[in-house]
Amino acid sequence: MKILAPRRFPGPAWDDLDGVEYYDGPLTGSRPDVEALAVVGEVIDARTLELFPNLRLVANYGVGYDEIDVAACAARGVAVTNTPGVLDAATADLTLALILATRRRMIEADSFMRAGRWGADWASTTLLAQEVSGATLGIVGLGRIGHAVARRARGFDMRLLYSQRVPLPHPDEQALGAEFRELDDLLREADIATLHVPLNEDTEGLLDARRLGLLRDDTCFVNTARGAIVDEQALVNELVSGRIRAGLDVFAHEPHVPPELLELPNVVLTPHLGSATQETREAMTRVLVDNLRAAAEGRPLPNPVYPS
Ligand code: 8YV
Repeated sequence: MKILAPRRFPGPAWDDLDGVEYYDGPLTGSRPDVEALAVVGEVIDARTLELFPNLRLVANYGVGYDEIDVAACAARGVAVTNTPGVLDAATADLTLALILATRRRMIEADSFMRAGRWGADWASTTLLAQEVSGATLGIVGLGRIGHAVARRARGFDMRLLYSQRVPLPHPDEQALGAEFRELDDLLREADIATLHVPLNEDTEGLLDARRLGLLRDDTCFVNTARGAIVDEQALVNELVSGRIRAGLDVFAHEPHVPPELLELPNVVLTPHLGSATQETREAMTRVLVDNLRAAAEGRPLPNPVYPS
């Protein structure tokens, strides 16, 4: 099976594949010989699919597949797979890191040190921050990653609220120690709000200007999901006003970062690092390769995704 990939993926699993050709730059030009695409963040739409008349599989390196038109793939009999499960811990860890860094003003403190501004006054109020332990955490989307965040937050004695379309059965809520709230109520009540829903037509712009306006002053807003779930300009406006803080790993038009954010002390920025550990990226490669090999050998795909 001829596989087209943008690069080698990290880890030993990649060497289990035969027939890989690497491409550089956008996918252009008809390729009837290609049967599988390994993709990471490329847009795969009906026009791209026309270039690959014999394509059988689009294998996505990542759990979120919002750049892939799954319905257009299905209409042509092209399967789509992703890499769920293996990146939950790394993404949840980064979420907690952003909560801690934002709430405890760690980047400001680091700049303060490097600027030689640490004087003798240990009790200075300059960098007084807000407590993480005991804070109320609102989790928007309690899927695998949301659950992993909830479990970690319990270690910080946080009070847990969550919002999603269908509440958990009561025993599951009790086991997790989380209370359901409608989204607007969660935003009004949370000290820290964190997003863990996929980007799709239901969630694009979910956090609009009105909803961001529900956040209380000094709320810490964290996004390790997808930038387009938020009205980015409305978020920038709230942050420029200084009313809230944010820890942002994702942006609406990556790698573009709204320039206003680069100047703000109340924002911690990371470049889409949710799954970016050696261990997790290697595990993602294993899942990607398992899906590609299953397609090559005509076996059922381990991680198919379907049009919603
Ligand atoms: C990937 C991610 O690094 O899995 C996801 O959805 O956001 C990350 O793990 C990303 O997909 C790469 O584009």
